[in-house]
Amino acid sequence: EKAGFDHFMLKEIYEQPKAYRNTMMGRVSEDGRSVHLKEIGMTPEQIRGISKVHIVACGTAYHAGLVGKSVIESLARIPVETDVASEYRYRSPIITPDTLVIVVSQSGETADTLAALREAKRCGARVLAITNVVGSSVSREADDVMITQAGPEIAVASTKAYTSQLIAFYLLGLYLADTLGTKDREWIANVLTAMHELPEQVESILEQSMVFKQIAESMAKHDNLFFIGRGVDFAVAQEGSLKLKEISYIHSEAYAAGELKHGTLALIEEGIPVISVITQEELYEKTLSNIKEVKARGAHVLAIVNAGLEDEVAKSVDEIFAIPKTLPVLAPALSVVPLQLIAYYASLARGNDVDKPRNLAKSVTVE
Ligand code: BG6
Repeated sequence: EKAGFDHFMLKEIYEQPKAYRNTMMGRVSEDGRSVHLKEIGMTPEQIRGISKVHIVACGTAYHAGLVGKSVIESLARIPVETDVASEYRYRSPIITPDTLVIVVSQSGETADTLAALREAKRCGARVLAITNVVGSSVSREADDVMITQAGPEIAVASTKAYTSQLIAFYLLGLYLADTLGTKDREWIANVLTAMHELPEQVESILEQSMVFKQIAESMAKHDNLFFIGRGVDFAVAQEGSLKLKEISYIHSEAYAAGELKHGTLALIEEGIPVISVITQEELYEKTLSNIKEVKARGAHVLAIVNAGLEDEVAKSVDEIFAIPKTLPVLAPALSVVPLQLIAYYASLARGNDVDKPRNLAKSVTVE
């Protein structure tokens, strides 16, 4: 059932190209210039009436929601807040009937997320669920349901479910942008073309997985490390850090690159690994100056960059890996893959039970 892989997690990492294709399947028009989401019952009038979006989820799904915020805000220009479900439910969120609440849940059974969904409905908001499980509680109670077509995910640490949630957010962002007229069809077609290239690009990263095995084995000797990034790179850094903590039990922190010097820089000591995600061209110089701050304190820096930025970044870091070139907005769908592989191989190097990390469950049905 592991199809020749040693662990479900590795199998699921390798299933991502297929998951991307399946989540896109049937949702792109034949001419490749627009997105069809038949599962969304909102009329164009209702969509134009959305004043704000709340994205609510737990764990890895929350991290997908952080990327989702950036995608919806930049494509559709609707203000978005992303919250952890267990916080959202009890902070008296300002939910109005013109709020679209998006709940994200692989299993569709997470109690905190379900409670947030119910609170949103009680306040009269429309609820859209992004979930991987047809017929799950979340899917039954939401008004609209986008199913991610990742296939069953067994490993506790989520990989293909997360990336297919990203694909769902891209499709949704394009759909909203088209309906609201914030992006034209030419622009949308360009993004869709780039999205169709993602599966092969993920495959090319996977072909180099031994690079990450080596990196992970040296990182596994450390007890602390940092992930840094800006914007969507920070969102991906948070997911990379969670993945590593969940299964390798190495303590790590994800920091907004520019915020390090306002707090945690004192923890950067000789030899500490820092993984820096740099895929956004307009921000790379800023992140480079943060890298210099950690390098000056002895950090060992690995940079994950979007192809095209290698020359600018290489001289400032110890190790560099370039993901295949994609549009900045789509970069999270590629840059997270090296981080998944690092977490996997670090867990393996430490002799942990990769698929069933201690103290964690795949789906938590208590609040
Ligand atoms: C946690 C799992 O308990 O729930 C995480 O350990 C997961 O892996 C999170 O991301 C949310 O789960 P779901 O099913 O709502 O996406």
